[in-house]
Amino acid sequence: MRHLIRGALLSVFCLAWATGYGSESPVRVGDLRCEYATNPLGVDTLHPRLSWGLSSPRRGEMQTAYQILVASSEEKLKAGEGDLWDSGKVISDQSTQVPYQGKGLSSRQHCYWKVRVWDKDGEANGYSDPASWEMALLSPSDWKAQWIGYTAAWNGRALYFRYHFDIRRTVKEARAYVAGLGYYELHLNGVRVGDRVLDPGFTDYSKRVLYSTYDVGGLLRSGGNVIGVIVGNGWYGMPKLLLQMEVTYTDGSRDWFYTRGGIIGESWRVTCGPILANSVYDGEAYDARLEKPGWDLPETIPEKPVDRTEGWEGTVPVEPPGGRLVSQTINPIKIMDTLHSGKMSEPRPGVFVYDLGQNVAGWAELRVKGERGVRVTLRFSENLAADGTVNQENLRKAAATDEYTLRGGGEEKWEPRFTYHGFRYIQVEGYPGRPGLQNILVKVIRSSVDPNGVFETNNELVNRIQKMVWWTEASNLYSVPTDCPQRDERMGWLNDLTVRTEEAVYNFNMSRFFPKFLNDIGDTQAEDGSITDTAPFKWGMRPADPVSASYLLQAWFLYQHYGDTRALADHFDGFKAWTDFLASKSKDGIVTYGYYGDWAPPSAYTVEGSLGSSAVSKDTPVQLMSTGYLYYCSRLLSSMAQILGRKDDKTKYDALAQKVGEAFNREYWNDAVGGYGANNQSANSFALFLGLVPQKQVPRVVDNLVKDVKVAGGHLTTGNLCTKYLLEALTTYGRADTAYEIVTQKTYPSWGYMLANGATTLWERWEELTGGGMNSHNHPMMGSVSSWFYKYLGGINTDPQAPGFKRIVIHPYPVGDLTWVRSEYTSMYGVIRSAWRREGKTFRLNLTVPVNTTATVYVPASNVSHVTEGGNPAASAAGVEWMRNEDGAVIFEVGSGDYEFVAR
Ligand code: BGC
Repeated sequence: MRHLIRGALLSVFCLAWATGYGSESPVRVGDLRCEYATNPLGVDTLHPRLSWGLSSPRRGEMQTAYQILVASSEEKLKAGEGDLWDSGKVISDQSTQVPYQGKGLSSRQHCYWKVRVWDKDGEANGYSDPASWEMALLSPSDWKAQWIGYTAAWNGRALYFRYHFDIRRTVKEARAYVAGLGYYELHLNGVRVGDRVLDPGFTDYSKRVLYSTYDVGGLLRSGGNVIGVIVGNGWYGMPKLLLQMEVTYTDGSRDWFYTRGGIIGESWRVTCGPILANSVYDGEAYDARLEKPGWDLPETIPEKPVDRTEGWEGTVPVEPPGGRLVSQTINPIKIMDTLHSGKMSEPRPGVFVYDLGQNVAGWAELRVKGERGVRVTLRFSENLAADGTVNQENLRKAAATDEYTLRGGGEEKWEPRFTYHGFRYIQVEGYPGRPGLQNILVKVIRSSVDPNGVFETNNELVNRIQKMVWWTEASNLYSVPTDCPQRDERMGWLNDLTVRTEEAVYNFNMSRFFPKFLNDIGDTQAEDGSITDTAPFKWGMRPADPVSASYLLQAWFLYQHYGDTRALADHFDGFKAWTDFLASKSKDGIVTYGYYGDWAPPSAYTVEGSLGSSAVSKDTPVQLMSTGYLYYCSRLLSSMAQILGRKDDKTKYDALAQKVGEAFNREYWNDAVGGYGANNQSANSFALFLGLVPQKQVPRVVDNLVKDVKVAGGHLTTGNLCTKYLLEALTTYGRADTAYEIVTQKTYPSWGYMLANGATTLWERWEELTGGGMNSHNHPMMGSVSSWFYKYLGGINTDPQAPGFKRIVIHPYPVGDLTWVRSEYTSMYGVIRSAWRREGKTFRLNLTVPVNTTATVYVPASNVSHVTEGGNPAASAAGVEWMRNEDGAVIFEVGSGDYEFVAR
């Protein structure tokens, strides 16, 4: 599937490029984006950032200048008139994150733009194809709509809203701005509008409510029209709706249609429909006999004042949820794939169990034919019981059960709207007759972030681990990065995200996802700077565990992977407040609290009876982890301050880092053994990762680490956090072989052990557990191994000094039994490829470096004379510059293009 999506994206990209071809320069411009999106609606920033992609058949191609035109109409843009902004020729190689600097923009404004560039020889290109963006409703005064609901008769059922209106003039365009809490589905004249599901994204609704913008002009007709909206409970509770539709006619006049309660004859109507129950955790119950056919069509229901016999009542204005209305810019949740089970069994008569063969998150579509009133039940699970039926024990209180009651007649198709499940198995009961494989379709659902990477090797186990991590991450992007998709939890846990951030950003394009979640975290921040363990805050503690560096790391990786400084700037004060809060909870540089620390290591290394079904490490003190993270946050803040030009802050956090680092070493360094804390894998690798180990002690610590791995039979003993640091510290300190040994284990505890026991997504625990308690089978927190794959095996990295992959570092580690690796990463400049192969003594590295970037390339060889590029001595190859030899690698600098380095 990933390949399909990538293929589709690439062909769109290529197509766009092909049409943007200019006259003299061979450089082509395409893939125009505004705020990371293609032609977005609902842009809510006054200086949207623009970016474009470049391609060229020549090596070493660079942009030397650009010119952007932004116009208020398509016609003006066509005529070359940038009435909103004409940047003029700007001498710059910047092709991403270029802020709009034209006339002031207002709510709803349409902006059309194009760009041309000058190439490395200073030759101009023709303008690109046009692109556009549209501004959101920027001010509360733009809203006429009122929140409406149905308080008196609400009984837990989803609400159906209906509004009839007339269109008498010719429509030029129309927009609907919609927020239905918890989740809604929008219809217009019998058509379901758009393809968003589980919308809007989950936030703390008392702080922030996201609304979506729809282009609905094409759905309106002359005469009677009907808006229909189904609203379920979602994460909110009693459904509420806010909708404003703005119609512009060809004569320039406008109409507003919007939610408001009360006025008989004009008002919105509401009824409880066929959705009898709906809950994110428990599932949905639908009785098709209660459907009101044509409820969202104009002609079917005569428009008379509130007609109780039809079951439609007047709506009432309700208390607003409290949060400010914010345009939803995170990629909406969508159905991303449809799958069929390959297997079905009948463990008991009339009980059918489908096995998808892959643990996923989403729901099932049921296809059934039978008598009116027959009820089919679908139960979802990750595990099977011994008798072959579903085992839902590890879902704890989540019922994860959908029910459908047939209307009778022909074939019926049904899927839920306001729930989702994490599952591999579906148990079907009450089905009239014997269902076939085609009667249950699985819809795979998530925030529609694009897959961003490819990673494959000759080692099938490594490939399967990568696939397992990919599916786990994909299952846990539901507008917040959830801990798991199946049990009664599904929360944005900040501790897990600390080591997930980088894995996620290699596997998916998180440029629009992380900014949203950063706001969710910011919304939890109290006066004292404390944030909470989960965002939106549902579970866990305030203050959050100090390991919640994910707050800062999301902004950090937005900067590293996309060159985005906005999140750094917007949240800098919040990051400071959180770090200062941690400092205030420390004594002599040691942070005095922590709850989870290096959470959930193998059970022999945990405290019996501790939090989370015994998940607290017994060898790695929480204070050690907390203090390490205060150090890490201080260092991150110092770097951020440097980037943002905040000198005083840089000085302040350098000093804090110094103080905390010294305290860490004073408290935890054990000179007698040459290690930290209990001299275990977690403490030693964390200290190495943080760069806290004094230079002359590094060999002792690395040695201890390697010894400890040996004692553990080549296995890790780490929890969710230090698993990342273990692999990275070993690799960067010269023991990639030991890291690889850990990664490719097949026995407990390891990823291979999970796979050997049938896992298709990551377990929460290293042990195989299937009972109640804390043992999700779809938990991304142990998945940092995937970023290790990209960074070290594929060797694709951004240079921190030129982030956003403006300067790329290709540094592969050929290790263990690997004979080839193929890796790709889609950067904002285009696809970066690093593929290598070993045959005997020959090492071959195939590279693609996107236009307008450069790369530093590490080729494993002892001397430059042993390396060729494209068949010529590498030192003299076109576009290749030899820099130096270092630690068994020959280092080159290259510009854009395709390269083949061969070392013998
Ligand atoms: C979540 C974890 C999280 C933990 C912290 C669990 O319930 O699923 O992922 O790390 O709580 O206590």
